[in-house]
Amino acid sequence: MQRVFVAALAMLLVALAGCNPKEKTGEGQETGLGPGPDKTSTAATGPVKLGFCFEETGDAATFGTSSRKGCEMALDELNAAGGLFGAPITSQFEDNASKSDQAATAASKLANQDKVNAVIGCVASSNSIAMAKILEDAHIPQISPASTRVDLTLNEDGSVKKYIYRTCFTDDFQGTAMANFAVNGPLHAKNAVLFYAADNDYAKGIYETIKNTAASEGLTIVAEDSFLSSSETDFRTKLSKFKSLNFDVLIVPGYYKEAALIANQARELGLKQPLLGGDGFDSPDLWKNAGKNIEGSFFTNHYAADDPDPAVQDFIKKYKERYGGNVPDAMAILAYDCVNCVVDAYKRAGSIDPDALVKALSETKDFKGAAGSITINDKHNAMKKLVVMQVGDGGALHWVYTYNPGQPTTGMAGGAAAPPAEGTTPSGGTATPPAGGTPPASGETPPAAPPAPPPAAPPAGGN
Ligand code: PHE
Repeated sequence: MQRVFVAALAMLLVALAGCNPKEKTGEGQETGLGPGPDKTSTAATGPVKLGFCFEETGDAATFGTSSRKGCEMALDELNAAGGLFGAPITSQFEDNASKSDQAATAASKLANQDKVNAVIGCVASSNSIAMAKILEDAHIPQISPASTRVDLTLNEDGSVKKYIYRTCFTDDFQGTAMANFAVNGPLHAKNAVLFYAADNDYAKGIYETIKNTAASEGLTIVAEDSFLSSSETDFRTKLSKFKSLNFDVLIVPGYYKEAALIANQARELGLKQPLLGGDGFDSPDLWKNAGKNIEGSFFTNHYAADDPDPAVQDFIKKYKERYGGNVPDAMAILAYDCVNCVVDAYKRAGSIDPDALVKALSETKDFKGAAGSITINDKHNAMKKLVVMQVGDGGALHWVYTYNPGQPTTGMAGGAAAPPAEGTTPSGGTATPPAGGTPPASGETPPAAPPAPPPAAPPAGGN
C-alpha cells in the first residue's frame, strides 16, 4: 500500500515538473543529446539548493560583489520562469573574505550544515582550490565561474576530479595568449619583464605558462621578479631594478589591487612601458586606484562590453537596469552564465543526484551563455574564447583582439612573423584600432591563416 502511494506521489511530482509550462527543459541548449531528462525516472527531482562562495570582502572584493550580482540576477530570472523541477531554486551565499582558509570553512559549512546540492564559486583560483579539496571528498559538485588555474579540476596525479568543474577557460590558454599578444599585438614586443604575485596560485600558473611559451612565441624575458600580494604594497625597489633594462612590456600576473599600485609606482619611477595582465586586472578599482597610470595597458579577459553581440548587449542592458548604470565586469557575466549553465545541466540530468549532475555537466555542449558558448571538455574546463582589452580614457575598456579555443596564439595572423594588421583578428573578423574599437559580433569564424603548430605544452600544473 505504502509502495503504491510512494509510486503515485513520484509520478505526480514528475508529471508536475514536466507540466510546468514555464520550465523549458534544456533552454538555450543545442546539444543534440536528445530530449532531456527521462521523465519516467523516479530519481529525486527537487527542490534544488545551491551554495555560493565568493570574495565579497577583502583584497579581491570586487570579484565577489560582481559575481553575486550576476548570480542573483540569474536566480531571479530562473525562479520567475518556474524554478527547477517545479520548485524555486534556493540559495545560500558565503563570503570567503578573499582568503583560502575562509573558502575552505565555507565549503564545509555549505556541505555539512546547509546541505546544498552543488556549490558555485569561487573567483580566485586559490580559494576555489581550497574548496575543491573539501567538496570533492563530500561528493558535492563545485562549479567555478571564473577560476582559471589549470589544476583546479585535477588531482595531484593528473587525473580529473570527479565533482569539480569550471565554466571558463584555463590559464594555459590565457598565459599563451598573453605571450602571443605581446609579440603580435599592437605592442610588437620583443623583450618583456615578468613581475608576478608569488602567493597567488592563479598568478603563478600564468607566470609559468608565459615562461614556458615565451621563446616559442618570439618573446624574450629579460628579467623577472615576484612579490607577495598579501603583504607588499611598495614595489619601488624591485621596479627600479628594471629601469636600466631594454624592454617593451611589463607583464604582471596578479590581481587588480597590486596592478594599480605597480602602475602607479612604475610611472613614478619613470618606467613608461605598458602593463599586460590577465583577467585578474578586471575591476572597476583598477582605474579608480591607478587612473591615467594604467591607461593604454592591456589585459586578457572573458568578455568585451563593447561586443555588439546581442547576447552581450542584452545582458548589459538588464544588468544596468537592475543594478544602476555601471557596465558589468567579467565576473558578473561569468557568474550569470555559470548559474544558467548549471541549471541547464540539472534539467538535462532530470535529477538532483550529484552523479547525474556531473554527467550532464560533462555533456555540456554549445550552451549559449551571454558571454559566449560553453562546451565542457574532458578535463571539466570550458572551451571559450578569450578577448584582449585595452584600458582607455576614464577606465573604459576597449576590445582589441579575440583568441578562439583550440587556436591559441601562433594561429594569430599566421604566426609570430606577421604582426596582425590593424583591422583583422585571428578569428577572421574585422577589428578597428584599439581606441574606440568594437569587436566582431562573433569570434566563431575560422582563423584567417592556417594555425601554426600548437604552443608548447602547458606547465604540468605544479603547486
Ligand atoms: N581567473 C582568476 C583566477 O583564477 C579570477 C578572475 C576571473 C579574476 C575573472 C577576474 C576575472 O584567480
